[in-house]
Amino acid sequence: MAGNSFGTLFNVTTFGESHGPAIGGVIDGCPAGITLDLDKIQMELNRRKPGQSAIVTQRKEPDVVVFYSGIFEGKTTGTPIGFAIHNTNQKSNDYGHIKDSYRPSHADYVYDQKYGFRDYRGGGRSSARETASRVVAGAIAKQFLSGLKISAFVSAVGPLKMETHYQELNFETIEKNPVRCADPVMAEQMEAYIREIRKEGDTVGGVITCVIQNVPVGLGEPAFDKLHAELGKAMLSINAVKGFEYGSGFAGSQMKGSQHNDPYNTDGTTQSNRSGGIQGGISNGMDIYFNVAFKPVATVMQAQDTIDNKGQKVVMEGKGRHDPCVVPRAVPIVEAMAALVLADFKLLSRTNKK
Ligand SMILES: Cc1cc2nc3c(=O)[nH]c(=O)nc-3n(C[C@H](O)[C@H](O)[C@H](O)COP(=O)(O)O)c2cc1C
Repeated sequence: MAGNSFGTLFNVTTFGESHGPAIGGVIDGCPAGITLDLDKIQMELNRRKPGQSAIVTQRKEPDVVVFYSGIFEGKTTGTPIGFAIHNTNQKSNDYGHIKDSYRPSHADYVYDQKYGFRDYRGGGRSSARETASRVVAGAIAKQFLSGLKISAFVSAVGPLKMETHYQELNFETIEKNPVRCADPVMAEQMEAYIREIRKEGDTVGGVITCVIQNVPVGLGEPAFDKLHAELGKAMLSINAVKGFEYGSGFAGSQMKGSQHNDPYNTDGTTQSNRSGGIQGGISNGMDIYFNVAFKPVATVMQAQDTIDNKGQKVVMEGKGRHDPCVVPRAVPIVEAMAALVLADFKLLSRTNKK
């Protein structure tokens, strides 16, 4: 299985399955001498962990990260940072029903076809449990990026969509509601909607908006490793993500160039920011902002037609503890992946002009 590492210089490899003894990772390329606040790393993990509110999966995992290397006397040593999060709440019996049958729109069928064999417990490697390791790595990247501010929040749940521009929002409100919506009134409606969907035994999708402030000019490596291309890859690598748009995104395609252009000020800043802080694949010093669309996840507590591994038709109903809507827990994952991309480009920017 390839594809378990991310980043060129600031590189993370993750390992582990949902119901194995542990998940974790190795970060290679984090510069030496960065003072790390380990409590802050744990706090980021707590934002992702299951069971944190009534509108997420009720799986109870303490998700405590343990570091094994690369940190000494509170600072990075420049050597690989190895870490693990032990799995303590596996209920593999919840997953017997997917051993020989395929959940529609999950990864069971393709894993079986590709590898001929799969760890079906909790979805194995295809489970979003893997993203906890990304959150740890991203929390370290965030500390390396001190000065930059990465803020993600839920901007839509199903048909409920925020229309307010991010500049009019108070990001301090994000962590004050279980949905992690930056509009407290909308947050209540979204929460009620998710509860209703859960009662129906169904799931619902949503959108996360991410804003990155205080970005220096010059991050991004054209032609193939453009900043937005790497952000897009990072976001699309998160489980259940179906869409990525930055700046004016798809709406920009309906505008005329004369309306869409961002006029310059004499200091190189721009009067508008439809470019989303990136031009030619390089950050231009304005805020970077993008949207990430998540699907309604596959496991619904309703009977659905599917097939077993012999190609026979069977009926399957979701069992176990699942998320009715993943966006509240995915907010720290989006921030973590954004931090990993920017940390990598910060190291790569050494080839910029002096
Ligand atoms: C934070 C988070 C939690 C998730 N929880 C569930 C879940 O409880 N049940 C489920 O079926 N899928 C869940 N998913 C989505 C699956 O991991 C994902 O749909 C699956 O791996 C198939 O990949 P794909 O949807 O990207 O094609 C979750 C995703 C995220 C980001």
